[in-house]
Amino acid sequence: MKNGKRMAAALLLLTVLLVTVLVAGDQFQDVPLKQNTGGSYPDAQEDLIVVGFSQLGSESVWRTTHTDSIREALSKENGFFLQYDNARQKQENQIKAVRGFISQRVDYIVLSPLMEDGWETVLTEAKEAGIPVILVDRKISGADSLYTTFIGSDMEAEGRKAGEWLVQYQKKRGKEDEPLNIVMLTGTPGSSSQLGRSRGFYEVAAEHPNWKFIDLASGDFTVIKGREVMGEFLRRHRKIDVVVSQNDEMTFGALEAIQNAGRMTGLPGSMIVISFDGMKEALELVADGRINCVVECNPRQGDVVARVIKRLEAGEPVGKVYYVREQVFTRENARDHLAGYEAKEAE
Ligand code: AHR
Repeated sequence: MKNGKRMAAALLLLTVLLVTVLVAGDQFQDVPLKQNTGGSYPDAQEDLIVVGFSQLGSESVWRTTHTDSIREALSKENGFFLQYDNARQKQENQIKAVRGFISQRVDYIVLSPLMEDGWETVLTEAKEAGIPVILVDRKISGADSLYTTFIGSDMEAEGRKAGEWLVQYQKKRGKEDEPLNIVMLTGTPGSSSQLGRSRGFYEVAAEHPNWKFIDLASGDFTVIKGREVMGEFLRRHRKIDVVVSQNDEMTFGALEAIQNAGRMTGLPGSMIVISFDGMKEALELVADGRINCVVECNPRQGDVVARVIKRLEAGEPVGKVYYVREQVFTRENARDHLAGYEAKEAE
């Protein structure tokens, strides 16, 4: 009888372990075999810092560069064991991934949040589990106590830089008082990049009553939607002077739509195009004059993440916010930066 009970208990344990591994294997790549009973990681991972990284998706070249930067910095050679999850643009997937990291008791959670709202509950759970959360790329709304540090871009400053560039560009051409019809392709609604860039640009626009926003729609930070939205703008409006597109991918789509409509950019009197990000393909278009200005959004955040975690491990204080360095690319400096890209590729 006793043996029978033992056998049943062993079978039950085996089933639970099997289900845990299958579920985890389904949800994550690179899942380490941490026991849920307070056990430790297998020998090879014992000295490594275990980090769960929830990336919001892979919608753009910027995003894949961002993912690579974090994966490279949090490598085994650098003392990390990284679990990576791609949420494919769904906040519910990110919440699920974070919960998975909590139940596996990772040492740190790195989160690139799709939108600003909706993190209160799951990040409170992480806090109660004593797991520090490092936000990367985008910010969240709500209490600052929900995360340890933010590493990424100052999105509002990016929006302001775009507006200020337009002010100077018009001034140089002696056209600062001329009316401007502006259309804006915005990113994922509710994301801190969409909200911040919009706020920053509007701030500058508020000082220029001759700037008129004639249309605005979300292109979700993708080429396809950018093309679709810009096509619609062109059908609706005969006179568009400025296209503000909140990332390079949407700009590529918008340029296609402009070309398909038999319209031009980069020529005197044609539409002015402002973009954000500054990846290689966009810089080439800036150098060729088809995009007038790109405000950089720097995806290379991995090294800072690694440094912040190492400091936390050493019990040293860390800052609440780390902004990455960013600049503005125009025809005057785009070639120099392209040369930098080529040098890196040749390494
Ligand atoms: O949050 C950063 C933005 O997200 C980048 O501008 C964009 O390319 C990405 O999709």
